[in-house]
Amino acid sequence: MAATKRVGILTAGGDSPGLNAAIRGFGKAAIGNGWELIGFRDGIRGLVENRHVPLDSRALSGILTVGGTILGTSRDKVHKMSIDGEVVDARPQVVANVEAEGLDAIILLGGGGTAKNALRLVEAGLNVITLPKTIDNDIARTDTTFGFATAMEIATEAIDRLHSTAHSHHRIILTEIMGHRAGWLALGAGIAGGADIILLPEIPFSVDSVADRIQDRMKSGSTFSVVAIAEGARDRTDAADLEAAELLVRSAKTPEASGAARKHLANVYDSQREHTFKLARELEAVTGLESRVTILGYVQRGGIPCAADRLLGSRLGTAAAHAVEKGQFGVMVAARGEDTELVPLEEVAGKVKLVPLDHEWVHTARKVGTGLGD
Ligand code: F6P
Repeated sequence: MAATKRVGILTAGGDSPGLNAAIRGFGKAAIGNGWELIGFRDGIRGLVENRHVPLDSRALSGILTVGGTILGTSRDKVHKMSIDGEVVDARPQVVANVEAEGLDAIILLGGGGTAKNALRLVEAGLNVITLPKTIDNDIARTDTTFGFATAMEIATEAIDRLHSTAHSHHRIILTEIMGHRAGWLALGAGIAGGADIILLPEIPFSVDSVADRIQDRMKSGSTFSVVAIAEGARDRTDAADLEAAELLVRSAKTPEASGAARKHLANVYDSQREHTFKLARELEAVTGLESRVTILGYVQRGGIPCAADRLLGSRLGTAAAHAVEKGQFGVMVAARGEDTELVPLEEVAGKVKLVPLDHEWVHTARKVGTGLGD
């Protein structure tokens, strides 16, 4: 294998704390090896448009503690990119850019969508490595992802703060926590913040069961409750509707059927958009306690990364440089215990790591008396 000389790096998908630590980790190791490093702007879009900046020691200085991504990001599918109003397969353009820039490898920092893009670029003949980033912690084949620990801190602090106001006003406060279709963030923060009830996408809930738990607390003198609800959590009826709509999309055999199924799925999503507010109204009606909703939203993705995410980003970044040195491509650098491991991208792309129903965190929540709505 020819010696590595020049490498490109980019961040794609939703931003998350720790991205800059990972850029720095990879970059410092790369520069230490004598390689030249460039950073593509705004994710896959910058790679397609060949917009990049040099990442030398000066550019990497002072970014370890900075939130977001110094490179910018976007959500694009490389094989279906909207360019000047047209949807095109941008892979040939990426291959041309990588050749023109003389890049020996590209490093993609991203989540599930990025792993799919990475695999498509591998299939187009490029040397690609990904690092697992997302606050959702839902990437397959890695113990964890950078961004998750920081977001969990933020959500935990929110739950802490909501306790005192819920208590003072004798209210139910529902706090909606991100996580896309996975419940890791709500479960982790819910346990750490001592939420009375935690609702996850993996466990469709019954409104009666949630209300019963709140009423039991009322009987024992607690005239308030804090509910941590994952953005993807649904009551049993809504969950069944969503599942049926998703099944239609998966089983569509023609482009027409697929289009109609996707439209139907979008309508189902839309009709469930206010699901946390709906639950608040239902609980208020049954329990008689005033109910309020706090949507944590993007505050969970913003701001400085916690120590665990800085450490994880640095570890995975430097491990990626080691993989480039060894010529190991088409892989994600996974966190495995106190070590890292290279996992083939085929085992990551298109997979989602949901909370297993027998996971230790689920048992922990139940054992400390938290209601899970089932
Ligand atoms: O994947 C991270 C995440 O914040 C999810 O928790 C959330 O569902 C989604 O991104 C929001 O996406 P967007 O930034 O496109 O609004």
